[in-house]
Amino acid sequence: MNDDSLSRQMTKLPPEAEIWKRRMACVLAKMMKDAGIDGTVDAAPVAAEIPPDPAMGDLGFPMFGYAKLLRKGPPQIAQAAAVLLRAESGEDAGDARAPGCAAFGPYVNVRFDRAAAVRSLFAGTDTAAGPLSNQKIMVEFSSPNTNKPLHLGHLRNDVLGESVSRILAAAGAEVRKVCIINDRGIHICKSMLAYLEHGGGKTPESEHVKSDHFVGDFYVLFNSMAKAEKKREGETGEAEKRARELLLKWESGDPATVALWKKMNGWAVDGMKETWERTGVSFDQFYYESQTYLLGREEVLGGLERGLFRKEEDGAVTVDLGDEKLDTKVLLRSDGTSIYITQDIGTAIFRHRDWPFDRLVYVVGSEQQYHFKVLFAILRRLGLDWASNLYHLSYGMVNLPEGKMKSREGTVVDADDLLDSLRDMALLEIREKEREEAVGDPAGTAEKIALGALHYYLLQASPLKDMLFNPRESLSFNGNTGPYLQYMGARISSMLKKAAGSAAEKGNVKSELLAGDAEWDLVKTITGYKGAVNAAAAAMDPSVLAAYLYELSRSFSRFYHDCPILNAPDADLAASRLALSREVLRVLKDALYLVCIPFLDVM
Ligand code: ARG
Repeated sequence: MNDDSLSRQMTKLPPEAEIWKRRMACVLAKMMKDAGIDGTVDAAPVAAEIPPDPAMGDLGFPMFGYAKLLRKGPPQIAQAAAVLLRAESGEDAGDARAPGCAAFGPYVNVRFDRAAAVRSLFAGTDTAAGPLSNQKIMVEFSSPNTNKPLHLGHLRNDVLGESVSRILAAAGAEVRKVCIINDRGIHICKSMLAYLEHGGGKTPESEHVKSDHFVGDFYVLFNSMAKAEKKREGETGEAEKRARELLLKWESGDPATVALWKKMNGWAVDGMKETWERTGVSFDQFYYESQTYLLGREEVLGGLERGLFRKEEDGAVTVDLGDEKLDTKVLLRSDGTSIYITQDIGTAIFRHRDWPFDRLVYVVGSEQQYHFKVLFAILRRLGLDWASNLYHLSYGMVNLPEGKMKSREGTVVDADDLLDSLRDMALLEIREKEREEAVGDPAGTAEKIALGALHYYLLQASPLKDMLFNPRESLSFNGNTGPYLQYMGARISSMLKKAAGSAAEKGNVKSELLAGDAEWDLVKTITGYKGAVNAAAAAMDPSVLAAYLYELSRSFSRFYHDCPILNAPDADLAASRLALSREVLRVLKDALYLVCIPFLDVM
């Protein structure tokens, strides 16, 4: 999505483009009819491009695709179409710089009415409801296990989920952000076992350790215990066996085990909540596997009764998904215990009862693609009518340049540590630039820069791509980064502050004064914002908006460079350019919020 031509297409089409597309569809339909060809031409598939040179116009219609049908050369078709298009839009031939259209080789190029576009921008008349305004969309993201703290992979998941939720809401949807906490199972019992045997009554408070890290440390300890106790490769070690016994105790409701489980889960979740709060991530509802796995089990048993599933000789319940080109899947183990997919069946049904959604989006790593294919197939088989509206928003791995994240060995790239080091790097930069006094709150500013750097870097790649997170690169003030965008916001803010009460502000805003090329480029970019939001929502891909933001900042820089604002030759021009800058700031703030980048007045 970062491909330049694509971003140009997506982000530089103001609402006026749609009007011209419809007109062109009428023209083409007429030409077909005159040539004795049946059929209509829809506005949507009419190909339109941004001409490579703005001097050629704002929109170009290539005529190649109609040559065969109309049995004419594309330039000839363009000539005829331009004449009809002018008639369709009710104007005379006019000169080449005036709004209107003209043939250019095989293209019909269209020039928008600049002053009219600026007028409607300032009037704020584009208040159409978003395309998703009658949809209830539930978005699940983060969804950690409670045996260890959040890591870099979660940071990508979190920002993807939060950003997609904000984008869907901006496109009109009613959004509910949810999280499933996998708080049950063998993984938690491992941390619990290590704590039982070596915890000695310590607590996060007594050790002054963030509570989820406290739990995670025992998970790491379990793994070294297991390694030490395991005599031969492949056999189940003693520690593993004791962890399983603990799981059985938990399942049978043993009070001491349940109490320990509650305590350790509380620590884990409390610590994670601190991290979410720090990164600006929030949820409308938490679900816990311990609440939903029994419902999942019931549903599986119900399906077995209805003949949808099968009981194997060893007692396991399975489903044969051969007709969906998927493997046979175990739904309940032979000892009757549930597995990962069992709880997901229960969780989905629980959620739909809770809040009947039109769509449910799961933001989960690409390594679980198969899991979700199977899950969706099972829910369809259970006859749930909403099961066809489930979507796995899959994303790729993220690593640091030094190497892979490995959680088992405890060498995972911890989310909190990474946030701390990004913040420290940003703080150092503020100090080196001697900006401490100017920014007022250096530590708070550094934290916001760190989040801007991290979130933009993670979102500018399209979700499915595996990626390397490069901390130093992400923090750079030049180039396609979060801090660069934040810096642009700060620059505009400070200019507007300077303008307050100055002569520049006393002029009259006149739309026709903003007709220069750099201003026009900016106007088109600003008016293309809604289109970019809707495109990002349709693709559920925040990188579309990241590309838009970069385009906006480049367009603003050109304008800022070419068009003096406070020193404009007269007050009306200055006031008009200030008004345009205010529009940029409005859109910038809005778009930054959608990609979870904190806005900064000064930096
Ligand atoms: N907790 C799981 C993990 O860490 C991810 C859960 C994803 N969501 C779901 N509904 N299965 O792998």
